[in-house]
Amino acid sequence: MGNTAREVPPDPLDPAELLTRDELADLQLERLRQTLRHAYDHVPAYRKKFDEAGVGPQDCRSLSDLARFPFTTKADLREGYPFGMFAVPMPQVRRLHASSGTTGRPTVVGYTDSDLSVWADVVARSIRAAGGRAGDKVHIAYGYGLFTGGLGAHYGAERAGCTVIPASGGMTARQVQIIQDFEPDIIMITPSYMLTLLDEFERQGVDPRGTSLRVGLFGAEPWTEEMRREIEQRFAIDAVDIYGLSEVIGPGVAQECASTKDGLHIWEDHFLPEVVDPLTDEVLPDGSQGELVFTSLTKEALPIIRYRTRDLTRLLPGTARPAFRRMAKVTGRSDDMIILRGVNLFPSQIEEIVLRTPAVAPHFTLVLTRRDRLDHLTVRAEARPDATAAERSAAAVAVARGIKDGIGVTAEVTVVDPETLERSVGKIQRIKDLRPKAG
Ligand code: DLL
Repeated sequence: MGNTAREVPPDPLDPAELLTRDELADLQLERLRQTLRHAYDHVPAYRKKFDEAGVGPQDCRSLSDLARFPFTTKADLREGYPFGMFAVPMPQVRRLHASSGTTGRPTVVGYTDSDLSVWADVVARSIRAAGGRAGDKVHIAYGYGLFTGGLGAHYGAERAGCTVIPASGGMTARQVQIIQDFEPDIIMITPSYMLTLLDEFERQGVDPRGTSLRVGLFGAEPWTEEMRREIEQRFAIDAVDIYGLSEVIGPGVAQECASTKDGLHIWEDHFLPEVVDPLTDEVLPDGSQGELVFTSLTKEALPIIRYRTRDLTRLLPGTARPAFRRMAKVTGRSDDMIILRGVNLFPSQIEEIVLRTPAVAPHFTLVLTRRDRLDHLTVRAEARPDATAAERSAAAVAVARGIKDGIGVTAEVTVVDPETLERSVGKIQRIKDLRPKAG
């Protein structure tokens, strides 16, 4: 637990947060119909897909009619690279961002003035839900640039009336200095980079619990409840989850409230969620685990219809913001899933086990190789600086046993020396797949 949890009521300044569920549904239907019409009329790729599926914007009479429309995937955006999916003339596009992805061309996204304003509003709302208020100082250590993290957080924090410290990612020693000197209340950063900062605080002999920081908004990559506990205890802050993706807008699609820490409220007046079965494509009822799909409701430059996020989660009823459904913490992407001798596993499951093991630090990588035509998983976890040789070997056994008992696979676990694994300065890449490529 952070030492400063406080009740954060819905902010009366944002009327959308006070809507009833019925009022929200009416607004969503009206906006959905406009978005489908806008996409059909202005993006040839959508028109073609809708025509092929035999549906048109006029066929959407209720929210459930959305299920009749075709999905959009990253491949569709890549095919239109760079601006083929844009629905407004280029002079109306005020900003571009791009997500690098691990393979192939980046996906390019664009924003009109109105899109940028909506984005700032949803990030501002997220900061307030996290416990931030006008007048707070916000240290932003998400990367600035084509990545949506830095600039998305930046304009949202300004919209919330905060004082922004645009630190961006990298230059870790300087980050620690700035946090001490500028005394921010809030930090926005990937959870893995926060751990890199933790090492740096310790290296400089500065107590990370003694900073002015009160709250952190962590996102852009999966992280677990164990990681939340680690960060909250080591920094004495409240750690909450912020979710988003560039294709939908960037950070600020959904936000966990500091008062409940029970999953992320989706800002459904702008982004309509569905959860589908990743194999059959069927829409699943709320509460079922599946792949998250988003349709934008107000975006102009890049309306996005039924976008397959690949993120796995489930939809839950609203709590701290009653009108808005929540999504459970995303602990894995369908494309991060490792299939090891027939068993599905996610890096987040290993994270939980590593963090439960006292002699190892929260730094680990997963190395996949092939031996005798069988997939082989090696977990390399870093020892805590004070761990003895005996504690290190016991930890290796404990992690291997945790993986066998909890997930059902055999893994080789190596506990390596402190400070030997690569550190994150943004999104961490945990899986090193050294298996020969098929074909
Ligand atoms: O990561 C936007 C962002 C920036 C979100 C800063 C939060 C904070 P992309 O680079 O397009 O956008 O990557 C989107 O990152 O589909 C998820 O797989 C993952 N992701 C983002 N937030 C979370 C989160 C930004 N809170 C992809 N938990 C998404 C788990 C997350 N995964």
